Amino acid sequence: MTDPATSPQQALAKVRLLWGVCGSFSAVAVPHVNAWLRGTVGVEEIRTIMTAQARDLMGPRMIEAVTGHPPVTDWEDHKGGGAAHVALGAWADVLVVLPATANFLAKAAHGIADDVLTATLLATQCPVVIAPVMNEAMWSKPAVRRNVERLREDGYEIVEPKEGISLTEGRREAGSLGDFQPAISAALVKAAARPAHPRGQ
Ligand SMILES: Cc1cc2nc3c(=O)[nH]c(=O)nc-3n(C[C@H](O)[C@H](O)[C@H](O)COP(=O)(O)O)c2cc1C
Repeated sequence: MTDPATSPQQALAKVRLLWGVCGSFSAVAVPHVNAWLRGTVGVEEIRTIMTAQARDLMGPRMIEAVTGHPPVTDWEDHKGGGAAHVALGAWADVLVVLPATANFLAKAAHGIADDVLTATLLATQCPVVIAPVMNEAMWSKPAVRRNVERLREDGYEIVEPKEGISLTEGRREAGSLGDFQPAISAALVKAAARPAHPRGQ
């Protein structure tokens, strides 16, 4: 993604990370994940797509404050040329969907493209990391398991939720954000090592 004269750290800084945020309780983790991406990994180029439900739950301002750019939710939010899904899909070197809802998994597994995030998922050719979060009951449902397996078969990297304290029930269960750092780091390092090529804006 950069020319061979740059150092690995410089190359990583230039990787374009497109970040999809779905309507989950774990959207509250966004500022912390952003801090890790910027402060520890060294990514400088982050753009976000929020689903309408994520925007209802947490609003767009926190994302804009921490990433420095307003999130795209509606088609008209995209201010550059072309349609949002095509432009953002071409811009991205890596797409991360974190948190991903059961609803997002179902749409992605079936090729449904009824909002900017799911349309971008289809439009992009970059590697994709998906970190689903939902409570144990939802995660164990056959429909969700089928969708996750299908997405794996389709080549998406899935970060499974792990056990943690439920935000609503206060008990331990398998519904917390999983260990996303290794999968995202690996995708970013791989993208940074790719030779330079022209990109969309
Ligand atoms: C407060 C709240 C928290 C939610 N948390 C989750 C969650 O962690 N995981 C999940 O799959 N759905 C969760 N949902 C349900 C989704 O928001 C709902 O299925 C929605 O349609 C998802 O839309 P999206 O995938 O376009 O963001 C939550 C809903 C509410 C109101």
